[in-house]
Amino acid sequence: VKQEQCVKIDILDYPVFAGPEIWDEFDAFINPGLKAGGVFILTDVNTVKYCLPVLLEHVPSLNNSPLLSIPAGEASKSIEKVEEIWAWLMEGGAGRDSLLLNLGGGVVSDTGGFAAATYKRGIQHVNIPTSLIGQADAAVGGKTGINVAGVKNLVGLFTDPSAVFIFPGFLETLPLTHITSGFAEIIKSAALAGEKFWIDLNKVNGIDDAPVNQLILAAVGFKCSLIKQDPYDLSARKALNFGHTIGHALESISFLPGNMVITHGEAVAAGMICEAFLSHFLAGMPEKELDELSSVILRFFDLQPINPETAGQLINVMNHDKKNDRERVLFSLLERIGKPVLNEPAGIEDIFRSLEFYNHRIGK
Ligand SMILES: NC(=O)c1ccc[n+]([C@@H]2O[C@H](COP(=O)([O-])OP(=O)(O)OC[C@H]3O[C@@H](n4cnc5c(N)ncnc54)[C@H](O)[C@@H]3O)[C@@H](O)[C@H]2O)c1
Repeated sequence: VKQEQCVKIDILDYPVFAGPEIWDEFDAFINPGLKAGGVFILTDVNTVKYCLPVLLEHVPSLNNSPLLSIPAGEASKSIEKVEEIWAWLMEGGAGRDSLLLNLGGGVVSDTGGFAAATYKRGIQHVNIPTSLIGQADAAVGGKTGINVAGVKNLVGLFTDPSAVFIFPGFLETLPLTHITSGFAEIIKSAALAGEKFWIDLNKVNGIDDAPVNQLILAAVGFKCSLIKQDPYDLSARKALNFGHTIGHALESISFLPGNMVITHGEAVAAGMICEAFLSHFLAGMPEKELDELSSVILRFFDLQPINPETAGQLINVMNHDKKNDRERVLFSLLERIGKPVLNEPAGIEDIFRSLEFYNHRIGK
């Protein structure tokens, strides 16, 4: 097995394996669990169809494992679904020595990880991410949780998976909108990491041309290094919020009547252009880097202007964000590419200017 066929990232307390030849490692890892309390497989309606057959082909010993498939999408990150998972585990006789295998995107790993950590006060879980967001981001880092009262990730816990196995082949069936969403996170990671990761990404012309496996590895490796420094998101890990403060606000207002529909990836991409402007304006990011970062984003995303009349709605959403005081919003910005800076306050006027910059920069 060539090294790049199965890379082991060994920075955290649990191993992350990635590459087309992960299956021997997976088999060896899963065997004791199968012999002990059994392996329970959680999927959603898409991953049961597209990914489970691939998994079973590579690991036939899982053929008799109990299976639960939840509906695809964010609505499954709910307490009702968690109850369903707990009941399914109980009815299947799962004990403390059983293992939950999350086969899916961020929704399956967030919900399944939370259910596993709370079932009988905690059983092990393993993530096999099948979406690009899952592979580049969500499966690693131990954040699990569900949405409550309409608030994303309101309830959850930090609970590490026992291992993560990233098989790039799963992405072949992932719809394009979800591939693009994943690229927003990869661009963010590269901008935060700088150095070779950024230089490599900067050479890519767009999604069709991207060395996806290599970029996933770089993103996961970088995320692991931040988590190692700050597992509970109190300091260094907060850098990962870059682009997400304005991005989340754009995504939230896109659900209001009359506003333009925007995907999660587009929202984060637009948020990163705005926050790159704030980085330049407030944190000293050189203009050349502001331009470089905006250009990279625009190579991957066809972004639409932000209606200036919605700026008030955006500020309202950001003001509800727990990170802020009344007058100012706190941002994770970049002093330079590769040099994050945390808790940078920006006033309402600064945010308005960043929206103006964005509308000008996308050239529409
Ligand atoms: N815990 C974390 O650190 C973390 C980080 C980032 C995002 N998240 C969470 O992850 C979620 C978003 O992640 P996501 O985009 O993976 O969501 P998702 O799990 O909903 O997956 C996106 C869509 O792709 C489908 N899908 C997944 N893999 C597929 C495949 N191989 N072939 C065909 N279809 C496939 C899914 O069924 C779903 O419809 C959000 O809930 C977000 O809050 C968590």
